[in-house]
Amino acid sequence: MSSPDELLRIEGVRKSFPGVVALDDVDFDLRRGEVHVLLGENGAGKSTLIKVLSGAHRPDTGRVLVEGQEVQIRDAQDAARLGIATIYQEFNLVPDVTVAENIFLGRQPRRFGFIDTKRMEAEAAKLLERVGVDVSPSARVRGLGIAQLQMVEIAKALSLDTKILIMDEPTAVLTTEEVDRLFAIARRLREEGVGLVFITHHLEEIAALGDRVTVLRDGRSVAHVDASEPEDELVRLMVGRSIDEQYPRERPEPGQMLLQVRGLTRNGVFEGIDLDVRAGEVVGLAGLVGAGRTEVVRAVFGADPYDSGGVEVLGKKLPGSDVGAALNAGLGLVPEDRKGQGLVLDASVEENLGLVTLGPTSKGGFVNLASQRSSAARVADELAIRMAHIGQHVRTLSGGNQQKVVIGKWLLADSRVLVLDEPTRGVDAGAKVEIYRLINELTASGHAVLMVSSDLPEVLGMSDRILVMAQGRVTGELSAEEATQDSVMSLAVAANPGPNPEENEVEGR
Ligand SMILES: Nc1ncnc2c1ncn2[C@@H]1O[C@H](COP(=O)(O)OP(=O)(O)OP(=O)(O)O)[C@@H](O)[C@H]1O
Ligand SMILES: [Mg+2]
Repeated sequence: MSSPDELLRIEGVRKSFPGVVALDDVDFDLRRGEVHVLLGENGAGKSTLIKVLSGAHRPDTGRVLVEGQEVQIRDAQDAARLGIATIYQEFNLVPDVTVAENIFLGRQPRRFGFIDTKRMEAEAAKLLERVGVDVSPSARVRGLGIAQLQMVEIAKALSLDTKILIMDEPTAVLTTEEVDRLFAIARRLREEGVGLVFITHHLEEIAALGDRVTVLRDGRSVAHVDASEPEDELVRLMVGRSIDEQYPRERPEPGQMLLQVRGLTRNGVFEGIDLDVRAGEVVGLAGLVGAGRTEVVRAVFGADPYDSGGVEVLGKKLPGSDVGAALNAGLGLVPEDRKGQGLVLDASVEENLGLVTLGPTSKGGFVNLASQRSSAARVADELAIRMAHIGQHVRTLSGGNQQKVVIGKWLLADSRVLVLDEPTRGVDAGAKVEIYRLINELTASGHAVLMVSSDLPEVLGMSDRILVMAQGRVTGELSAEEATQDSVMSLAVAANPGPNPEENEVEGR
């Protein structure tokens, strides 16, 4: 029987795609004024479930009830009418119109037949104030940072009189401070009686924000538990086994110098970067979002230019801005923006895994297809990429499994120095450990890893040395033994303005 507090109930929902059953007999319920966490490994069916609620997918069987009434959600309009709003990882905002126009898209207040901009902006300002974001209603969306975009999406949801707010991995791209702000808004909405569905791979966020947790495994809802459940128990429910060692780093003796960066400077972005990476090492590059870490590693790889300084691989100087030369010298880069830079979405898993190796192995006109096939299959297996078959298009993989394909592609490329920018963002707890094991294998066989990561436990757990950046400069270096959360954070916020502080803004590109 439905209680008066029940907002949403899902019963026996099934959804299949060719070759996969994404959801199988799923039950779920959401109450007024609660945050309900959906937890599960990459490919467990979380995004598919919320797409059923947003009208993007129709279930094959099963029932969806909103406030006790069975409903059919055929499209986004149906969802909106029922008070359901969804914030996807990829935002749905229109970049070239204003914030206010985005919030009221398709339902702008009118006066004598014309859009009443004044009234629209005044109402938008009220909503933006309610979420506590300092953005002008007349600003264009294009210039906003990711956290601001998210807040605009939430303001938009509020304008729709939302009763059920669904967020798919909202914190994956936010800084610690921004996460705090998002949580404050979520708590306020909860007090107002909104029901929130929240997806995250960061286990520590569950107890911090959640009330209840539904665990999905292989498309089935396998557990409904309290959010205060211990983390290791949540992991066990999620992956079906316990993970005894989260950071299995084995440190070989460092060998020869592989990568040496001296005085690398890009005016106004980063300055005087010195960096050594030896065979067998994992060097962590820590810092806050916007400290310039991604900009530095892109310049090292030749993807972006620099103004002075230099990069040597195995003692040979690399020309600047030449990705081909970097590749030939043995550098590899797994970029932060994997959708934009790392994958061909309409090609298969196998083809994507072969993208980097295809060049080298086809020299002289031969591509060793058979060996390429078997190594692609091996890497897919080691990373436990969840797919119907190796010919499946990457576009239809779950978010986390797409990440694994990009990483796998570079593991196959056999680079001497692999630069990983946020390697486990969006990756589930079990798969993270698999990636760490592969990093161990690489370094044990004389390769090296330079890792940019905003996940502090990961930087501390996996790096042999940590360089910390703030405002475009290296503010300190710590060995694995001396590094702690506090020592890294104090270097990351070090007041160390560059020569021209105003030009030091590197965020929001
Ligand atoms: N349009 C589609 N066509 C074919 N298969 C699909 C499609 N959408 C999803 N799938 C498959 O359904 C399964 C569940 O995917 P889903 O995106 O729901 O996972 P998820 O739990 O959100 O994972 P992640 O944590 O990686 O985001 C995966 O095996 C995925 O490949
Ligand atoms: Mg997903």
